[in-house]
Amino acid sequence: DLTPVEKAKFVAAKQASRMVEDGMRVGLGTGSTAEWLVRCLGERLREEGLSFRAVPTSHRTAELARELGIEVVSLEEAGWLDLTIDGADEVDGALNLIKGGGAALLHEKIVATASDRMVVIADATKRVETLGAFPLPVEVISFGWQATKALIEETLVGLDVLGREVELREKGGEPVRTDEGNYVLDLHLNRIGNARQLGLALNQIAGVVENGLFVDICDTLILGHGDGKVERFE
Ligand code: A5P
Repeated sequence: DLTPVEKAKFVAAKQASRMVEDGMRVGLGTGSTAEWLVRCLGERLREEGLSFRAVPTSHRTAELARELGIEVVSLEEAGWLDLTIDGADEVDGALNLIKGGGAALLHEKIVATASDRMVVIADATKRVETLGAFPLPVEVISFGWQATKALIEETLVGLDVLGREVELREKGGEPVRTDEGNYVLDLHLNRIGNARQLGLALNQIAGVVENGLFVDICDTLILGHGDGKVERFE
């Protein structure tokens, strides 16, 4: 009784959950697909006694993992990770990603890059030819955020993008705060011609903490379909 999109997320998560082995240190992503993964891992823990330590990328994920009896440790305690499994908002043919729809991009990027491997799980609607239809999340310090926004707009003028609207993410009339207490700006770019160049340019601006472009970080994509089929890309 799952909708096709939920089923697609579930089958991708289920397949990825089998990559976790006894004794591993595993990064757990954030979002609805990552939630399926955490549930699948909880099931393996109950049924097979699978033993692993998890580093969550958000308070939300940490809470769910603990509820399911998964051993949660900090990245500091883990030191380095064998594997991180996370969702994405968009993924292109080179396995470059847009992340941060759930505002957890900073911790997600730190955890993913502190891992031997990053596996992305997604339903097939996330697969795109070119990144950018999904607004690019950029985490910024709240102090002087309007100035940071203006500098981002100026930077975009010289870059290979189609749209340039920058919007402060709000919920209930209030700015959304990340787990680190920062703000998120959503960049409506429509088409990102050069993800690497854009990511580097954004991170040079004072006040920008991190951007949601993951370039050369994802090693494997597990793509689920509504009919239960799963594709794998390396
Ligand atoms: C969280 O900050 C994002 O990077 C998520 O990974 C992304 O939003 C995917 O979420 P869903 O699995 O809910 O689509």
